[in-house]
Amino acid sequence: NKIINFDKLDSTNQQAKKLALEGSKSGTVVIAEEQTAGKGRRGKMWVSPPGTGIWMSIILRPSIMPENASMLTLVAGLAVCKAVREITSLEAAIKWPNDIVVNGKKICGLLTEMNSEIDFINFVVVGIGINVNIEKFPAELDNIATSLMIEGNQSYQRKRLVKRTLEIFEDYYKKYLETEDLTKMIKEYNEHCINIGRKVTVTGRKQGITGNVKCVTNKGELIVTNQQGEDIVVTSGEVSV
Ligand code: BTN
Repeated sequence: NKIINFDKLDSTNQQAKKLALEGSKSGTVVIAEEQTAGKGRRGKMWVSPPGTGIWMSIILRPSIMPENASMLTLVAGLAVCKAVREITSLEAAIKWPNDIVVNGKKICGLLTEMNSEIDFINFVVVGIGINVNIEKFPAELDNIATSLMIEGNQSYQRKRLVKRTLEIFEDYYKKYLETEDLTKMIKEYNEHCINIGRKVTVTGRKQGITGNVKCVTNKGELIVTNQQGEDIVVTSGEVSV
């Protein structure tokens, strides 16, 4: 794994996409101490102060069908969740599909971006933002965001966490490539997923859904049993915990 470190970037995802277009190899990792324009989902900003978080992006060139690439977010989420549990002993959990939470608040967000043709992927960039040693969040984020330091009352070595996250990710990435889906990790994924068994509402789709989460499938979909008892297959959207 080649890791490229930067003091400051607009966004590690932006830089990774640029490097990928210039031919960087699969497995290249871009890390920045600080992001001045960290990107979140749905056009939101990702707060990325210097020296306190892990702001990184992994360049991948999987030979898979483009429609299977979004599962990489779930693969990376499982890797982050396991690494965080291992290193901090905090009860990290995956909030499908993009977040890792501790005590109900977000400590990590994932943003996967892709460059592809109809039947061919040029590259995928998996962006990972982990709030490690952030002491305080702005008031408007205080209810939804937290850091490992705030939850664990101590600071953690970012380097160790990066290393373990990448090691575990590599492991699951290989398993994912074998089947082009989550078959080989879906049991573990469901065990780490906080949504399972909970009543949720799913928004951000044509029709909202309220129901009980049954499981995540090996294709990465969320199965929600609605109030009529029907199982609804959810492939995207915002889910309340
Ligand atoms: C979200 O939860 O909205 C996704 C946040 C993703 C943030 C990470 S930080 C590293 C990488 N570079 C970016 O600009 N964004 C992702």
